[in-house]
Amino acid sequence: MDKIVIHGGKKLVGEVMNSGSKNASLPIMAAALLSAEPSRIENVPDLRDVHTMVKLLRVLGAQVDYTNGVVEVYPGNAIKSNAPYDIVSTMRASVCVLGPLLTRLKEADVSIPGGCVIGARPIDLHIKGLEMLGADILIDHGFVKAKAPKGLRGADVYLGGNFGSSVLATANVLMAATLAKGTTYIEGAACEPELVDLAEFLIKMGAKIKGHGSHLIEIQGVKKLHGANHRVIPDRIEAGTFMVAGAMMNGNDILVRNCIIDHNHALIDKLKQSGALVLKSKSSIRLKRRGRLRPVDVTTLPYPGFPTDLQAQMMALMTLTPGISVITEKIYPDRFIHISELTRMGAKIFLEGSTAIVSGVGHLSGAPVMASDLRASAALLLAGLAAEGETEVNRIYHLDRGYEKIEEKLSALGAEIFRKKEESQKELAAVAL
Ligand code: EPZ
Repeated sequence: MDKIVIHGGKKLVGEVMNSGSKNASLPIMAAALLSAEPSRIENVPDLRDVHTMVKLLRVLGAQVDYTNGVVEVYPGNAIKSNAPYDIVSTMRASVCVLGPLLTRLKEADVSIPGGCVIGARPIDLHIKGLEMLGADILIDHGFVKAKAPKGLRGADVYLGGNFGSSVLATANVLMAATLAKGTTYIEGAACEPELVDLAEFLIKMGAKIKGHGSHLIEIQGVKKLHGANHRVIPDRIEAGTFMVAGAMMNGNDILVRNCIIDHNHALIDKLKQSGALVLKSKSSIRLKRRGRLRPVDVTTLPYPGFPTDLQAQMMALMTLTPGISVITEKIYPDRFIHISELTRMGAKIFLEGSTAIVSGVGHLSGAPVMASDLRASAALLLAGLAAEGETEVNRIYHLDRGYEKIEEKLSALGAEIFRKKEESQKELAAVAL
C-alpha cells in the first residue's frame, strides 16, 4: 500500500487551486440515471470514489466516459436495477443510485452499504422516505429490495433523524420524487451545499423543485427528465482543509482559489477566533498565521454549522494551540479514530463520550501513523506538516478517495512531502535482503 512521507516544519506559502466537490459529484452522477438521455458533468475531481461511481454506473448498464474532469453519462434505455455488494460496500455514496433506479425502473436491488470506521451509518431514513413515496421495501440477504410497480406517489416526508437531517437520504428522496406522481414535501431536509447543487442539476434535467437549501423542499413530480450539462461546485471540505493548513503554523500564508466563501463561514469564524488572519475575495480566501494560536471550542452540526468532515483537521490545529480546546461531535459520535494517531505524535487529547478535550502541546513530533478514514488522513497530513521530523502516513488509499493531487498541491506550497509507491517499498525490501 502506498504511504506518504512528510518532513515537517516547512512554511506553507503560496496559492492552491481547490478541486470540484466530491460529495456533490457523486449524487449528481447517480442522478444522471434518471433520464435515458446523456448528461455532461464538469469539474469532477479525479478521485478513487469518483472512479468507483463510474464503475457502478457502468455495471448498471450506462455508458460512462471520464476524461479531464468531465463525466459524460449515457444511461440509455437498458439500465439494470441491481447494484452489487462488491462495489456498494466500498463506497457509501453508492446508495445514491437507490432513488433514481426505483423511480425510473419501479424497482431497485441495492446492496446495503454498511457501517464504517466513522460510525454505524444506518440507512433507515432513506428507507422511510422511499416507503412514504409508496415503495415496498424489504431487506433481504444484505440488499435493499425496493419495488413500486405502479410508480411512486408524492407525499409529505419528514427526514429529520436522531442526529439531525441526513444528506444522502434527502438526496435519495429528492431524486425519487422528481418522477413520482404528484407533489412531495421533504420536511427536515438537509441544507448542505452539495444537496443544493444536486437540486440545481435536477432542475436542469427538467425537475420541478423549490425550497432546496432550506429544511422544506417541494418537488412536483414530472413524467420524464432529460439529460443536462452541469458544473459541480468547488469542494468546501478540501478548501477548508487548506484553510486549516494556512492557520496552523506561524509564517504560513495560503491563498485558496476556486472556493465559495459562503460555504465555509463556520470554519472561517473558528479560524479567526484562533487568531488566524483571514482575507476574503470573490472566489478565493487567504489564510495567514502570525503570532500565537488561541484555543477555540467546536461543535459539529449539520450545515450551516461546523462540518463533521473538518472536525479531525481542526483537531490537528488544536493539538498545537496552547491551552484547552474542546470538540463535541454531534453527527458521528464515534468519529475520533484519529485521536490515537495524533497521540503518537505527542498530542494530548482526552475523550469523554463524544467530546474531545485537547490540551495543546505547542509542538508535535513526526511518527509513523495509520490513516483510518478520509478526513482522519487529512488531519494526520496537517499534523505531519507542522511536526518536527519525519511523519509516515500509512494506508493513504483513504486520502485518495477525497483529495485530488494532494502531495502535488502541498509540495507547490513548500511542503516536503512525497508518496512512496508500494513497488518501491518492495524494491527497498529486496535491496535490504
Ligand atoms: C454525507 O454522508 C457525506 N457523504 C459525509 O462525508 C458527511 O460526513 C455526512 O454527509 C454529514 O455531513 C457524502 O456526501 C458522500 P448523513 P451521509 O446521512 O449523507 C445519521 C466524507 O468524509 N443517519 O447526513 O451518509 C448518520 O448516522 C464523508 O466526505 C441516520 O441515522 O451522512 C449520522 O449520524 C464521510 N439514518 C447523521 O444521520 C440514516 O438513514 C448524518 O448522516 C442516515 C443517516
